[in-house]
Amino acid sequence: MSAKPKKTPDTLRSSRWFGPDDLRSFGHRSRMMQLGYAEEEFRGRPIIGILNTWSDLNSCHGHFPERVKDVKRGVQMAGGFPVEMPSLSVDESFTKPTSMLYRNMLAMEVEETIRSHPLDGVVLMGGCDKTTPGLVMGAITAGVPMIYLPAGPMLRGHYAGKILGSGSDAWKYWDERRAGNISDEEWLGIQGGIARSVGTCMTMGTASTMTAITDALGLTLPGASSIPAADSGHQRMSSECGRRIVDMVWEDLTPDQILTDAAFRNAAIIAMATGCSTNAVVHLIAMARRAGVDLTLDDLDALGRTTPLVANVRPAGKDYLMEDFFYAGGLRALMKQMEERLETSCLTVTGKTIGENLEGAEVYNDDVIRPLSNPVYHEGSLAVLRGNLCPDGAVIKPAACDPAYHVHEGPALVFDSYPEMKAAVNDPDLDVTPDHVMVLRNAGPLGGPGFPEWGMLPIPTALVRQGHRDMLRISDARMSGTSYGACVLHVAPESFVGGPLALLKTGDIVRLDLPNRTLDMLVDEAELERRRADWTPPEPKFQRGWGHMFSKHVTQADKGCDFDYLERGHGEAAGEPEI
Ligand code: FES
Ligand code: MG
Repeated sequence: MSAKPKKTPDTLRSSRWFGPDDLRSFGHRSRMMQLGYAEEEFRGRPIIGILNTWSDLNSCHGHFPERVKDVKRGVQMAGGFPVEMPSLSVDESFTKPTSMLYRNMLAMEVEETIRSHPLDGVVLMGGCDKTTPGLVMGAITAGVPMIYLPAGPMLRGHYAGKILGSGSDAWKYWDERRAGNISDEEWLGIQGGIARSVGTCMTMGTASTMTAITDALGLTLPGASSIPAADSGHQRMSSECGRRIVDMVWEDLTPDQILTDAAFRNAAIIAMATGCSTNAVVHLIAMARRAGVDLTLDDLDALGRTTPLVANVRPAGKDYLMEDFFYAGGLRALMKQMEERLETSCLTVTGKTIGENLEGAEVYNDDVIRPLSNPVYHEGSLAVLRGNLCPDGAVIKPAACDPAYHVHEGPALVFDSYPEMKAAVNDPDLDVTPDHVMVLRNAGPLGGPGFPEWGMLPIPTALVRQGHRDMLRISDARMSGTSYGACVLHVAPESFVGGPLALLKTGDIVRLDLPNRTLDMLVDEAELERRRADWTPPEPKFQRGWGHMFSKHVTQADKGCDFDYLERGHGEAAGEPEI
């Protein structure tokens, strides 16, 4: 514990529940005794909520029931009192139509769970894509000391002498299967070999991107995001989270002291240097807005132009996976490499600065974590486009697409729904050339609904059989962080609310100019006006329930897709419960 604790047993948040000699506190203490705890076990001690996004259907968090025990051990060693609080397990593998529909539900649940219970600090256990931003967004708003425990990546995939990467190799071998190059037996082998242990996707997909961002923000123990889930170091990290959060409570080290403008800038730089998932854009902006930090698409584009991609991890990198990244020194080593570009005075959950946390960090394999003089790609991972197709922006991952498409002009092939697109793609006689620009609309936050990861539109079978593996694709959807290809995503405003993508017709010429960051349809304004006058809004997707609320309040992609009323500045903060 630091020399001068700011909190005392009497000023702990939980003492409002357990301290007073009144009837309500009698009730709270009596119910703790019903749970089997003596007063000296919980009274006057930091109560640590362990917010655990485990479920039997979250394949990436299968080790969390064990890790909770490690966290509890750490909390108890440091003199705190741990309580496990199950939180919505937003899993990427099974949730339909898309996990993104539920990120904000998790964020709300976390905020309200903390606010309504006697918790002095929290350990947030997540990792599978949306769990990271969901947990962090809710905890930022709740404002108690927090530490993030990342699930860690799974081991490398493996089959028949080949290394397999989550997602990326599924898409790759699926194309080969459609081309007739893979037998049933091989396909089954790949199915069993591509996800071999607990943990999150082991490419630099959304999970690894978001945990790296959380690490760079200073919300995890330094470098924690790189430790493979199956490594015993992951258990030791978990118990250290337990020990550290207790001290953070005494120090009153709250997230607002950590999550400054500079911290978000650091995180964005590190995201670009790692070859981050395009989803980083949406979640970074949403988290920043919760923290009261103004981070925009243009800020991210500017950082993207000047930050080289140095993590040689698939899919943006060519050769390696997260396990290799860990052995090469992990995120601490990468941050050390980038130290001159970071604001190293930012405070972190350790109570020390980023600079102090990076002391002694080293790169052990400079082909995995490249020096700035020999990057994987000269610019960062993401670029933001604007033009008459996307006045509020769109996102592309230049390093992950065939350079032949960086400047491209071709006729649009437009689909209004995923089933329509799927049927066409599977038609071996589809009239399509590699110059065509495939477009899927009604796939955004409201249209999808929920902003699904449909943006890596499959290459039509007709082209796959001719040997083509990339083409320019545009949608208002997201794509998986493990995806790749010339895919323009997050077109804003989305077509479902009348964004200009709604006006595009098959045969219109579309032009992408990546170096100049533009995306346009070459259709004159008078014609677009006519089409706009003819456009009728589609029927809402939901009449009731969560989807109804989601549709009423979700913001567009460029604003982070939080709910308008959850963002900082929407009315007075709820504050603490009064009685
Ligand atoms: Fe959970 Fe990819 S499915 S991280
Ligand atoms: Mg994913």
